[in-house]
Amino acid sequence: MSAKSFSIVTAAAMLILFQKTQLSVQAPLNGSKWSYIGPDGEKTWPKKYPFCGGVFQSPIDFHNDILQYDTTLLPLELVGYNVSSTDHFMLTNNGHSVRMSLFPTMHIRNLPFQYTATQLHLHWGNRNKPEGSEHTVSGRHFAAELHIVHYNSDKYPDVTAAIDKSDGLAVLAILIEIGPFNPSYEKIFSHFQNVKYKDQVALVPGFDIQELLPDQLDEYYRYEGSLTTPPCYPSVLWTVFRHPVKVSQEQASLTLETALYCTQPNDPAPLEMVNNFRDIQEFDERLVSVSFRQGVVLSVVLASVLGVIIMLAVAFWLLRKKNCKKEREDNRRVIYKPAFDKEDDNTSKV
Ligand SMILES: *[C@@H]1O[C@H](CO)[C@@H](O)[C@H](O)[C@H]1NC(C)=O
Ligand SMILES: *[C@@H]1O[C@H](CO)[C@@H](O)[C@H](O)[C@H]1NC(C)=O
Repeated sequence: MSAKSFSIVTAAAMLILFQKTQLSVQAPLNGSKWSYIGPDGEKTWPKKYPFCGGVFQSPIDFHNDILQYDTTLLPLELVGYNVSSTDHFMLTNNGHSVRMSLFPTMHIRNLPFQYTATQLHLHWGNRNKPEGSEHTVSGRHFAAELHIVHYNSDKYPDVTAAIDKSDGLAVLAILIEIGPFNPSYEKIFSHFQNVKYKDQVALVPGFDIQELLPDQLDEYYRYEGSLTTPPCYPSVLWTVFRHPVKVSQEQASLTLETALYCTQPNDPAPLEMVNNFRDIQEFDERLVSVSFRQGVVLSVVLASVLGVIIMLAVAFWLLRKKNCKKEREDNRRVIYKPAFDKEDDNTSKV
């Protein structure tokens, strides 16, 4: 943290505000705890957090038979995402993930309500199986997933009031795969060494948060689901972008998959922060709206139609050929027959 670029008063104010938000977003009920593995793993979540065993749960798998093209889905408009480097985001290891607080000046404009940003965090796998995205596409996991959480600021005063309301939250999800080095993600990743253990906090200079999103903001999956961590409230309008962003192998394995712990620095049984993603949930009777035409489906349909046309053409041609041959044979018979007949006649006459 640079004391020059950051006033202590602002830091203190942010810490207080942040801790308030932190408490409310995590909403520990009766001091109960949860984790991704062990005796408090996700199979046991519904015991302490009944919504986790309820309806409209996330994440889900996006596969062709639940997707429905919707022409009314507009490209998302993000306002105030370009944050000055003189402002600072607070980064915290909360024992489940790394979370970065965002500013209330950031919001999404063209959803049914205005949704204001509150925090972002990540989910990932481990170094041997770097497949830690929460949402999957046709059963396929991506390396990791970024969630940018917003609350409905038209209807609710803060995220605490909104978190358990059916129209309370909107989350933008960005799928992350392995590719070239990503300097924008590095603006957060480079601070992970300072939040290695639970409850550690670091400050990240402001930057354009939109750099973390894919270029194409007009192609996405949209559905109504839940928080993917306890208490699993079914309060989230999900936007999962179709196109993944890329980070390097080194960024994924060194920063995400091996650098962090769920436990505090002095814990005698340190627990690595890996595989912090929830299993795919039942999709029941729901449909996912998609803002893009299904290129793959369309080409499959086109190929099938073309295939049928070609088969019909070939069949028609074969049939015609056979008919022609038959006709020719018939003709031959017609031609020869009278000849034989004549001969026969002749012989009979002879
Ligand atoms: C928390 O404790 C109170 C009082 O014992 C109880 O009424 C409530 O249901 C508990 N909440 C959960 C989620 O267990
Ligand atoms: C974000 O703000 C910085 C500083 O004001 C500016 O240099 C940069 O061009 C802005 N980026 C975008 C995408 O508008």
